[in-house]
Amino acid sequence: MGSRPHVVLGVAGGIAAYKACEVLRSLTESGHDVTVVPTGAALHFVGAATFAALSGRPVATDVWTGVHEVPHVRLGQSADLVLVVPATADLLAKAAHGRADDLLTSTLLTARCPVLYAPAMHTEMWQHPATVANVATLRSYGAVVIDPASGRLTGADTGPGRLPEPAEIAALTRDVLARGGLPADLAGRRVVVSAGGTREHLDPVRYLGNRSSGRQGVALARTAAARGAEVTLVAANLSVEPPAGAKVVLVLSAAELREAVLAESAGADVVVMAAAVADFRPATRSESKIKKGEGEPTSVPLVRNPDVLVELASRGADRATVVVGFAAETDDVLAHGRAKLAAKGCDLLVLNRVGDGVGFEVDHNAATILSTGGEVEVADTSKDQLAHAVWDAVVTRL
Ligand SMILES: Cc1cc2nc3c(=O)[nH]c(=O)nc-3n(C[C@H](O)[C@H](O)[C@H](O)COP(=O)(O)O)c2cc1C
Repeated sequence: MGSRPHVVLGVAGGIAAYKACEVLRSLTESGHDVTVVPTGAALHFVGAATFAALSGRPVATDVWTGVHEVPHVRLGQSADLVLVVPATADLLAKAAHGRADDLLTSTLLTARCPVLYAPAMHTEMWQHPATVANVATLRSYGAVVIDPASGRLTGADTGPGRLPEPAEIAALTRDVLARGGLPADLAGRRVVVSAGGTREHLDPVRYLGNRSSGRQGVALARTAAARGAEVTLVAANLSVEPPAGAKVVLVLSAAELREAVLAESAGADVVVMAAAVADFRPATRSESKIKKGEGEPTSVPLVRNPDVLVELASRGADRATVVVGFAAETDDVLAHGRAKLAAKGCDLLVLNRVGDGVGFEVDHNAATILSTGGEVEVADTSKDQLAHAVWDAVVTRL
């Protein structure tokens, strides 16, 4: 094995097995060596040839091939991470009970590296007390089990049980590898994250908006869920998919966002205001489209929106234990950030330098995390890694 991270990709026998091919592609493209280990049932869905061609490696399907290399032990020992996509109800049950009757379950039992499961099954199977207990057992052993998404399942059924998007699984895999595992340090915590940018309407078709895509807020929600939190995402006009497993509340304007965040954060442990909330809105909103010609407006009078972060930070008994703000600044960044932390009264302020190609609409970000206790510099990195740095800072305050 070379110096590139070695991922064992287990594929169990669910209808979503074909999506494992996309995860595999994404991981090989980002420079990972991937060995695919399908179960016997998985091979009913996708042929070994597809996995071999996409991974560029032989595909081992049973413990009786190449016995002299003791594959049932070697694979788990050599892996930097074992990922199972999709993890069937059956596979979760076997893994939770330490069964080792095929190559994948043997590998899971010998692996001492981080293990990540992406379950997919019908809602009834996912919600059965046996599966719930198996997932809890695997988490108690330190495995990361991603909650499935809600949506269309096989046939006409819908509900929780759908495999999260392959891009999301691949992103989480890279996270876990980069950090050498993920702690479940937000287990039992309820967190609220706002994401995206608000739209302040002038008339039914026009609005004042901003360039926030919601990527950073979505990364915060996804990583919090992966670290065990119960997550509510208040989503303002996202241009990316919300993560699987989070409760999503859709909002459009600053006023709607304020109402949703205040309601959802009652009794929460952490609130992170990553959304770009408009400071101002048009003083009036026309019920019909504003027309050109006589009497057309030459300026747009604005009024100030309430400051949701200040409201959250100054709540009495209902205040979340940790309130986190985001500040986007273009110049004199640190001085503005320090002044903002004092003025807002929040516990942490994540200070972003924004501008062309930095911060907005891209997958990477650099920031300083300010608190009254000190400053943590996070050099340009993925938005997921910045999100983890924020959760690290939050955890020390819980
Ligand atoms: C068409 C079809 C689709 C299936 N989809 C799923 C699924 O999405 N999730 C699941 O847990 N089991 C699913 N199963 C059942 C599993 O294939 C079965 O439990 C099998 O024993 C799993 O073996 P494995 O865990 O060793 O891969 C499906 C079965 C069939 C025939």
